[in-house]
Amino acid sequence: MKLPTIIVNFKAYESAIGYNALTLAMEHDRIAKETGLSFAICVQPTDIYRIVSKVSIPVFSQHIDPVTYGSHTGHILPEAVKQAGAFGTILNHAERNVELDMLETSIMRAKEVGLFTCVCANTPEAGEKIASFNPDLVAVEPPELIGGEVSVSQSKPTVITEAVNRIGEGKVLVGAGVKNGDDVAKARELGAAGVLLASGVTKATDPYKVLTDLAKGLM
Ligand code: G3P
Repeated sequence: MKLPTIIVNFKAYESAIGYNALTLAMEHDRIAKETGLSFAICVQPTDIYRIVSKVSIPVFSQHIDPVTYGSHTGHILPEAVKQAGAFGTILNHAERNVELDMLETSIMRAKEVGLFTCVCANTPEAGEKIASFNPDLVAVEPPELIGGEVSVSQSKPTVITEAVNRIGEGKVLVGAGVKNGDDVAKARELGAAGVLLASGVTKATDPYKVLTDLAKGLM
């Protein structure tokens, strides 16, 4: 995956589910094509197949379970996500925590089926521990800032620096409250390989305008 990058998590926002997800995904695809910059999206597993044939950007699942083919009703099978066309998966989001042993197995299962992994951590310390499981990226997000108005770049820049020191350049995304190009630029300046965000885009009245501004932070 091309770095630096901006990954937008569609979560379960109404503006980013079903046909709305497709429309929003196409806005991301448009900005990626127009700027040549790296954008990716993270959607509900049920929306992956609907979206992948219509965009060229990487599409992530919001979760997978560490199960294999067989009797696992209701679990998200990594192979199913891969066959739906996903490029990768997010794991251990603050809203979808996974125990550490299960997280390690989930990362292994993702690798087995060829899914890129972006694993979330609440703190740089937790991120360092998770990095020992060898995911492709670690996204550090202070939970208290998620969905809020103040970004990690503005209010907790030391979290970014510490995460990069502990985990390594080229491996760390940061997120929580990221809303604009200045937030992205600050995260980059402190060594992050990009950002993970959600509400800044999913709640925007004009998502394309926000994406255009976010892109400026990667330039
Ligand atoms: O996955 C991204 C996230 O948790 C941050 O959400 O709404 O603060 O950008 P938000």
